[in-house]
Amino acid sequence: MKLTVDTSKCSGHARCYAVAPDVFDIDDLGYAVPLDREVEEPVDDGITAGIAACPEHAISIH
Ligand code: F3S
Repeated sequence: MKLTVDTSKCSGHARCYAVAPDVFDIDDLGYAVPLDREVEEPVDDGITAGIAACPEHAISIH
């Protein structure tokens, strides 16, 4: 599975980074970037927390 951030939805709230700095970084434009796009089962708690923290629903796993 892949962890993705939809940059058309990301507004730079950085809540994902605040709750899971080991999973997300913020790029120079203020968008969240997954540090590692590969997601293994069981899904890491930091990934789950980052998804839940985003008010724009910009983070997803495919
Ligand atoms: Fe963007 Fe949501 Fe994180 S708006 S910076 S993906 S909390």
